Amino acid sequence: MRIFSRVSGTGGYLPGNPVRNDDLVAHGIETSDAWIVTRTGIRARHLSAGETSSQMARKAALKALEMANIAAAELDLILVATSTPDYIFPSTACLLQGALGNKGATAFDVQAVCSGFVYALAVADKFIQSGSHKKALVVGAETFSRILDWSDRSTCVLFGDGAGAVVLEAAETSGVLATALHADGSQAGILSVPGQIAGGVVTGDPFLRMEGQAVFKSAVRVLAAVAEECCHAAGMETGDIDWLIPHQANIRIIEATGRKMGLPMEKVVVTLDRHGNTSAASVPLALDEAVRDGRIRRGQKFLLEGVGGGFTWGAALIEF
Ligand code: UT7
Repeated sequence: MRIFSRVSGTGGYLPGNPVRNDDLVAHGIETSDAWIVTRTGIRARHLSAGETSSQMARKAALKALEMANIAAAELDLILVATSTPDYIFPSTACLLQGALGNKGATAFDVQAVCSGFVYALAVADKFIQSGSHKKALVVGAETFSRILDWSDRSTCVLFGDGAGAVVLEAAETSGVLATALHADGSQAGILSVPGQIAGGVVTGDPFLRMEGQAVFKSAVRVLAAVAEECCHAAGMETGDIDWLIPHQANIRIIEATGRKMGLPMEKVVVTLDRHGNTSAASVPLALDEAVRDGRIRRGQKFLLEGVGGGFTWGAALIEF
């Protein structure tokens, strides 16, 4: 009999107060609310004032554990998707494990940039399906504000910080129905932080660099295709899903994907306007919001989608 990974809890955390587009203008960034809203759909984002990815991950994780009604000590798998880990090592997952007081669970980070949460969720699902693990915590946590060049208006206005978490538990019915993950390393250069640490100093460029239009075009091309692939793997059509929860990078990408999938915007969860692009945290933050406000109900089917640096993309179809 197949073992399913059932979503038993979700949680989210955003640091501090919203930083509105006009606040960025007031801080001397050569941009405007009108440009950011028209080109991206972003109106505000949250920025960490020193909180690290593992600290935000802990706050989101505690909420997810509370909803799932399980103790951290019961977890046997902890995965953190992040491109902004606290340290080079140990992993953010091990720091989170320590902060939660769990001992003995398998714990490691997954690095697939903005697709990271979908990658990590798919990995956790494989562990659970195999029968080796039964209770997994999957977190997306990012402090992208640390890697932004605040003099580069083409990137710094786009991103925000935060964390989102999901608890997956082995179940006999319902849960993750299908996942699909892809990457194309030949496009590594269109979205990267190319710096390195060598001999105690940062060499190269330590900031996020993006060829926005190339990323935009690739995202639109792959997102509808991977949605279809994932739905077909579960014997469904994209029009059959109740909710689309896409990576929150640009409202124009989200709308184009929804159109190609035959889904009206009423079925698409959007947090981008208030969160900005929180990379690996964006999908679990949006999922948590829609679960907590009652939009996503037990028995409904939703599709998670990620796309980002690598170039990476993926989807997960879940019956709640
Ligand atoms: O999470 C990973 C996935 N990331 C994404 O999916 C991001 C994908 N890319 C995008 O969302 C869009 O390409 C951007 C929002 C990044 C840029 O939008 P665009 O419509 O592609 O604009 P553009 O880069 O072609 O720039 C248009 C103009 C330029 O001025 P000129 O050359 O036309 O005079 C830019 O200098 O807008 C200018 N510009 C700005 N103006 C005001 C760029 N950034 C800004 C800004 N404020 N913040």
